[in-house]
Amino acid sequence: MITDRLRLDGRTVIVSGAGGGGIGTSCAAALAEAGATIVAVDRDAQRLADLPDTYVKVEADIFTAEGVQSVVDAAPAPLHGLVNVVGGSLPPHWAPALDYARDQWDSSLDLNLHHVMFLSQAVARKLVEQNTGGSITTIASTGGVVAAPFHVAYGTAKAAVLGLTRTLALEWGQYGIRVNAVAAGSITTPRATKTVQDPALSKRGVPLGRRGTPDDIAAAVLFLISDLSAYTTGAVLPVEGGALQRIALFDDDNVPVHVTNPDILGRIKGSNA
Ligand SMILES: NC(=O)c1ccc[n+]([C@@H]2O[C@H](COP(=O)([O-])OP(=O)(O)OC[C@H]3O[C@@H](n4cnc5c(N)ncnc54)[C@H](O)[C@@H]3O)[C@@H](O)[C@H]2O)c1
Repeated sequence: MITDRLRLDGRTVIVSGAGGGGIGTSCAAALAEAGATIVAVDRDAQRLADLPDTYVKVEADIFTAEGVQSVVDAAPAPLHGLVNVVGGSLPPHWAPALDYARDQWDSSLDLNLHHVMFLSQAVARKLVEQNTGGSITTIASTGGVVAAPFHVAYGTAKAAVLGLTRTLALEWGQYGIRVNAVAAGSITTPRATKTVQDPALSKRGVPLGRRGTPDDIAAAVLFLISDLSAYTTGAVLPVEGGALQRIALFDDDNVPVHVTNPDILGRIKGSNA
């Protein structure tokens, strides 16, 4: 049955940034539900303590080479995959580009880019050694697909993650290692502002009219990590309620702003009525 391809029984998946009750926590829960052995990684011990005891928990700082090695060493064989979740845009990372300071830039690229390369590399080396293939998925952002005004380093880092995804997919395809990314839209997490269903959002750029949930992202990650996506690599899957589909040339009612012909406007608006 094709739904069997969703199962991950007897396979280990590492989730970086699994603590905190947000996207990483949901991804770990979804993958565990599909049968995976979860290696939950976080540098915050309290956040790890709140996770299920069935997980292998690794307190590590993945910005360091030692932290990365300790994660891979702790993973029970056979290793199948990795979800790179660590990232985000902290308050100090928000500023106009004209004012951006070097330390803001460096710390955002540390948080969002460098560890994705080196943890993925360590996992891929293990997968090559096992000769099993595997699957790596990174949580990127719509801010890496289009502009990220006033958090330029975050947008740059997330765009770089998409380039990294494509390159690793090409290099590692020969080993059966698939590498994909999710372009997450605005997701309600414990640290993001708590907006509930807001119909006005559909006017402001989200065709589905709501913010996303961590489970919306986890469902996409489950698809990309499991064999359901066995023929997909180098892909960027948008999970953003359709937000990337609207460009500034469409007004709040999806009418192209350059259309001024009253006959055409009448037909469009008539068909909306
Ligand atoms: N929330 C959103 O709206 C949204 C939108 C698009 C993309 N994303 C992306 O989703 C990902 C997760 O977002 P979130 O809001 O759930 O994040 P979060 O802050 O809730 O979780 C990230 C976790 O990573 C851990 N962490 C940070 N640095 C670490 C390190 N050096 N070593 C080990 N662990 C470390 C933190 O302790 C934290 O528990 C990020 O990559 C973010 O950019 C989020």
